Amino acid sequence: MTAHLKQDEPDTENFLDTMKQGVLGKPVSRVEGLAKVTGTAPYAVEYPVENAAEGVIVTTTIVRGEVVSIDKASVLEMPGVLAVIDDERLTTRAAQGTAGEAPQQGPTKVFFWGQPIAVVVAETFEQARDAAKHLKVEYRAEDGAPLHPSDVEPEEQEDETVDQGDLAQAMSRADHSVDLAITTEGHASAAMEPHAAIAQWEGDKLTVHASLQMLNYNIAELADTLGVEEDRVRIVSRYVGGGFGSKLGISEEVVAAAIAAEKVGRPVRVVMSRQQVFQCVMRRSETTQRLRLAGDGEGRLDGFGHEALVSNLPAEEFAEPVLQSSHFLYGGDNRALKLEVARIHRMTAGSVRAPGEAVGMPALEIAMDVLAEKSGVDPVELRLLNIPHRDPEEDLPFSSHKLAECLKQGAERFGWDSGPRSPRHTRDGEWWIGTGMASAARVHNVGEARARVTLKPDGTAEIRTDMTDIGTGTYTILAQMVAEMLGIAVDDVLVQLGDTDFPRGPGSGGSWGAASIGSAAYLACRALRKMLAERAGTGESDLILRDGAVEGGRSLVELLDGEELSEEGHYEPGDIADSHTASGFGAFFAQVRVNRFTGETRVDRMLGAFGFGRVLNEKTARSQCLGGITWSIGAALTEALHFDPKDGHLVNCDLAEYHVPVNRDVGEVEVVMVEERDPVASPIQAKGIGELGMCGGAGAIANAIYNACGARVLSFPMTPDRVL
Ligand code: MOS
Repeated sequence: MTAHLKQDEPDTENFLDTMKQGVLGKPVSRVEGLAKVTGTAPYAVEYPVENAAEGVIVTTTIVRGEVVSIDKASVLEMPGVLAVIDDERLTTRAAQGTAGEAPQQGPTKVFFWGQPIAVVVAETFEQARDAAKHLKVEYRAEDGAPLHPSDVEPEEQEDETVDQGDLAQAMSRADHSVDLAITTEGHASAAMEPHAAIAQWEGDKLTVHASLQMLNYNIAELADTLGVEEDRVRIVSRYVGGGFGSKLGISEEVVAAAIAAEKVGRPVRVVMSRQQVFQCVMRRSETTQRLRLAGDGEGRLDGFGHEALVSNLPAEEFAEPVLQSSHFLYGGDNRALKLEVARIHRMTAGSVRAPGEAVGMPALEIAMDVLAEKSGVDPVELRLLNIPHRDPEEDLPFSSHKLAECLKQGAERFGWDSGPRSPRHTRDGEWWIGTGMASAARVHNVGEARARVTLKPDGTAEIRTDMTDIGTGTYTILAQMVAEMLGIAVDDVLVQLGDTDFPRGPGSGGSWGAASIGSAAYLACRALRKMLAERAGTGESDLILRDGAVEGGRSLVELLDGEELSEEGHYEPGDIADSHTASGFGAFFAQVRVNRFTGETRVDRMLGAFGFGRVLNEKTARSQCLGGITWSIGAALTEALHFDPKDGHLVNCDLAEYHVPVNRDVGEVEVVMVEERDPVASPIQAKGIGELGMCGGAGAIANAIYNACGARVLSFPMTPDRVL
C-alpha cells in the first residue's frame, strides 16, 4: 500500500505537533555516529570486494582540440596492466558540452584541461597509476580558446532578466544611491571523501558502490550512459563523506569503473586523486556583479539592480544562479536584474554549496552596508525597513518569513551596537576590531520522495529509501520522525539508506533532502497509524502512541499480534512557486580583527540566526548552520580557484593550495534557531537548512572588515593583499 499526497494545498493541520513520543526536534546524536568515528561505516571504496582490479583515470593536458591517438601498446606491456579503456561512453559527460550534437563520432573532443579521456586498469593501484602516467596521448590542440570571461561576448540568460519600472530614473532621483562592482572567484566543493567507485557485474546485473548525493537520479544517468536498462543497475552509497554539489551527478569514476569491470571481467575500483577531483569534477563559477541601490532619505529602497556575469563551458546549461534571492529579498519598485554567461574553456561549472546565493548574497549585503552608511541608518534597521510584504516581482505571498525576527533576535544575542558606526573605532595592539552584519536568504526547494516504513511484530520499525546521508543527519532525522509518529524509541528504528533497490528518495541537494524525505516518512507513518487505530478501535487522530503502546491501552506488540505492517509514503510536491515564494531567511553578525601591518583578518566570533521552518533535530540542524558559517569564512577570506592564464589549467588543486577554513580560522560561532511552522513548504512544515548558513555570511565579514579598518574590499576572497 502507498500513502500518497500530491501537495497542491498546504497541509495546515500541524498534525505532527500532536504526537507524544517527544523525540522529534530533540538534539539526538547521530545514530550512525559510532560507526563513523570507529571506522566501521564503509565509504565507497571500503566495501569488501574480492579480486578487484584498480583503475586510474587519464586526463587531458590541453585545453581545447581533439585526441588524435592513444597509444595503448605503450603501456600494455607494463607490469600488472590489464587494459586501457578509452570507450566513448567515458567521455559522454564532457561531450554534452557540444551544443546538443549527437554522441561523438571520431576523435574525442577536448573542452578543458583535465578532461578524462581514458582509464588504465591494473592489478594494483601503483601499477595503474604508473601506466597512466606513461600512456602516450597525441593531441591536436586548437589555439585561441577563451579562458577568461572577459575574452568573450556573454550570453544573456533571459529567464532571469527583470526590467520593472525605471531603475536609471530611480538612481538619478535617489537621495542616496550605491553603484558597485564586486567580484568573486571560483570555488571547489572540496568534499573530504574523494570521488570513488567500485563496480561489479554479476551476469548482466551491475552493482556500483559509489559516493553520490542523488541515487534516484544517478541510476538513470548511469543506465543511460552505459546504454542499459535501469533494472540492470544498482547503486549503493550508504555513507558519503560530503558532496556539496560535486556528487549531485555521476562523474567519470563511476562510468569508468562500470565499463572497466565489464571489460576485464572482474570488479574494478576507481578512485580519483585529490587533484583530479579539483581539476575535472566541477567548479563554482567566478562572478562579476554590479549592484545598484536607490534609496530615499530614510534608506527605503526605490530602486534595486543586480547584474552578474558568470561562466561555463560552451553549451552547458547550468549558470550560477547569482540573483536567486535578489528577486525577492528586498523591496524597490524599479528593478533591473540580469544574468549573463561567458562561454569559456574551464572545467564544467556546476552546483557548489548554495549555488547562487553563496556569492550573490555577500555582494548584495556589501551594497546594503554602503547604503546604510550613506543614509546614516543602522545596517540592521536598513534591512528591517526594506523587507517586502509580498514578493516584489511575482506579487506572491511568502510561505513564511522570519527575516525580521532573525535580525532582531540575532542583534540582541550578538550584542549589536546600533549607535553611529565609523571605521577604526577600536584597536587592540596591532589589530583593528570591527563588526558587521548581513541578511541570509536561500530559496526553499522540495522534491518527490518515497520511503517504506515497516513495523515489525516485536514493535520495532524499519525505514528504507534510496535517500542519501551526505553527512547532514538524514539517518537520524528519519529515525526521529518514525519514532515520533509510531510512539517508539529512536533506538528501535532501523534506518536503511543509499541503495537503489529501495524506494526512490529525493536525493541530497539544494537543501531539499530533509523536508522531502521527512514528508515521505511522515506519510508512510500516517498510513501505519490508520491501521493501528483500526486495531485499537479508535480514529487515527485520537490515537496516542507513546513508549511502544497506545496510551492507557495495549502495547504495539499486542496490537500487531505477530503480524508485520508495511506502508510506502509517497510525497509529490505541488508547484509551490505558483502560489508562494518560499525561502529560508536569517541574519549574520560578525566581529573581526584586521592586522594593521599585514592585512590579515581573523574572525573572532560569528552569530547566525535562522528561520527555516520546523527543526527536526536541534543538534544536526545546528551542525548544518555551523558548517554553513564555516563556508562563509572560507568564501570571505581564503577560497579561490586559480587558473593559469596561459594554458587554462587549474593551479591550486589540493587542500594545501585551496584554502578551506581549519579549526584555527573559526572563532566562536553561535547559532540561534528561530523556530517556525511553514505549512506551505512541506507536509512536515520544515524548510531547507543546509545551505542557508553560507548565504550572505561572507558579506557580514566583509562589512566587519570595513568597520574594523576602513578598507571597503570589493573582491572576494579578502586576502591580506586586498585588505591592505
Ligand atoms: Mo547542493 S550544491 O545542491 O549539494
